[in-house]
Parts: sequence; C-alpha cells; structure tokens
Amino acid sequence: MTLLKVKPVSAERLPELLRRMPKAELHMHIEGSLEPELMFALAQRNGLAMAYPDVASLRCAYVFDDLQSFLDIYHAGTLVLRTEQDFYDMARAYLVRAAADKVLHAEIFFDTQTHTGHGLSSDLVITGLHRACVDARAEFGMSASLILCFLRHLSEAEAFECLEQAVPLLDKLVGVGLASSEMGHPPEKFARVFARARALGLRLVAHAGEEGPPAYIWSALDVLKVERIDHGVQAIKDPALMVRLARDRIALTVCPLSNLKLRVFPSLAQHNLGRLLDAGIVATVNSDDPAYFGGYINQNFSQTFAALGLTAQHAYQLAHNSFEASFIDDAQKRRYIDRLTATFETFD
Ligand code: HPA
Ligand code: ZN
Repeated sequence: MTLLKVKPVSAERLPELLRRMPKAELHMHIEGSLEPELMFALAQRNGLAMAYPDVASLRCAYVFDDLQSFLDIYHAGTLVLRTEQDFYDMARAYLVRAAADKVLHAEIFFDTQTHTGHGLSSDLVITGLHRACVDARAEFGMSASLILCFLRHLSEAEAFECLEQAVPLLDKLVGVGLASSEMGHPPEKFARVFARARALGLRLVAHAGEEGPPAYIWSALDVLKVERIDHGVQAIKDPALMVRLARDRIALTVCPLSNLKLRVFPSLAQHNLGRLLDAGIVATVNSDDPAYFGGYINQNFSQTFAALGLTAQHAYQLAHNSFEASFIDDAQKRRYIDRLTATFETFD
C-alpha cells in the first residue's frame, strides 16, 4: 500500500505529533477502563463495600505476573457495576478520555457473561454502553461501536446463550470477540458460536497469541474466520504465519503497555511492534485495559515510541492501519485518513 512519505520529526516534537494524530482504538475492554476513583464512587452509589480502604491501596494491588493474575483483579472490579447508568458512566469516562487523545473512532469490547454472572441482564449492559456511544457521537464527533466478547474459560453452551441473549439488541453491536484466559482454551472451542455470529451479520475478532501459541492464531483465522487478531504478538515465532498475516492484511491489535504489565515482554525495549511493522504486518496500537496497565492510547504510543526509537513514519503507518482495520465503511475511513494525512502535512 502506498503511504504518505512523512517529513522527519525531531525526537522532542514526536510526542506532540503522537498526541495530535487522529487515530482509531480497536482493542480496549470497557471494564478495564474503570478507574479506581469511579469504582469507589459506584460502590458507594450502589451501597457496596470495597475490599480496599481507598484508591491508593487499590492501585497498589495492580501488579501482575501474567494474564490470569490480572483477570482475577479485573473481575473483582466489575462487581461495582449494577445499573444501566453505571455502564453508561463507565463508557462515558472512557470516551471523554479517548476524545482527548484524538481517537476519532473506538471499537469497544465488553463481556456480558461477567455481568449476567452477577445477576444483571444483557439488555441493561448493552443499553447503557450503547447510549454512551450515541452521546459521544453527538458531543465529540467521534464514532464508537461495541464488540461483545465471549469468555473463553466458560463453555460453548454458555457462549451460545450469551449470543442469543444479545440477538434482540443486534443493531447495537458491530461484532463479537473472544477474551479471558487464553491458555488451554483454543479458539476452535467456539467454532460453532462464531459461525452463528457470522450468519447474524456480525464482524469477528478474537484474542489469540497474547500468551498462547501461533497455533491459536491459525485456528482463529481458519476455524473462527476472524478478520482481526487481538494481540497476536506470538505470531513472530512462526514465519509462515507472519507471511499469511501480511499477505492477507490481517490486522493485529497490539497493546504494548498491557504486554509489559502482564510480562509478555520483559521490557518495552524488547517489544516486537517494530519487527511486526518491518514484516509488513498491519499492526495497530491500543490500550487493552487502560485503568490497570498504566496508560490510555497516547501513553501506549509515546512510551513505545520512546523505548523502540520509532519515527513519525511509523506513527503515520500505525494510525493509518488503525483506520484501515476498523469496521467503519470505506467513505468514513477515507474521511478519517484524510484528517490523519492533513495533520502530518501541517505539523511542524
Ligand atoms: N486478554 C484476554 N482477556 C482480557 C484481556 C486481555 O488482555 N483484557 C480483558 N480481558
Ligand atoms: Zn484484550
């Protein structure tokens, strides 16, 4: 794909360009955007006790060894969400933050199974999140859509039940995804659920190759027939898979600070984002669970660029990739990419 040849930008000015650059965020879990301050406020509003005395001590607990150690804390945080307004407020807080980071379009993951497991209805969850997306369009001029993630540690039958509960609200969803504990839960466990989602007209993505092997990426592509891979950084271990991803322009929604906090890479300087781009892969930068991993999308960009010595040309490529890989229509993609290009052409 022919891209703009970007003017060089100094290391001092690059963070400002990264902040101002229009972008899409394609991999963030709305429950992972719940900041401790809002968590305490919702607990109080709902008359619930928190396991930690204050915000500071809760934040101190955010130290993880791997994906599972994070998922345990993440799940505990979701217990404060009880009403439609809670889901609205959580999504609203993220969208305000995203708009400030020049996110023009967000595709937001959520999981109803966590909340139905706490006695809430899928309808309440989806309605609250969707109302925040509609308001963000009117107020910030940004687009936002919802992707329902199945929890892969639960059964196929439970995923089917989750999907069927969402069918009356299908117009409020753009797609389905697959999240939670990866190891031991290969994508093919959900082949029939994804086939049903596809028949319903939903777009398909899945987490694969975050901690799990390249084989999980292959089966997400070939069995689930997903259009993007969430994370996918383990693809680097399989040269044939790298060729496939590049050839078919299968985007990877990479989350560098998440990978750092969950110890997928020992340091950001050892992250493979630059190598993925060099291999011609449609990589994007995303925040995953920003309240837990130390940063929203712009912090993911600035810290990763500093650690890897990436350039303005990489920045343009990553932002371009984010619009290309999104589930918006081609005319809207064109408009967003034109704004991106204009930002780079006028930046000095
Ligand atoms: N991986 C898998 N499941 C998740 C994640 C993640 O990074 N964040 C929230 N659920
Ligand atoms: Zn994720």
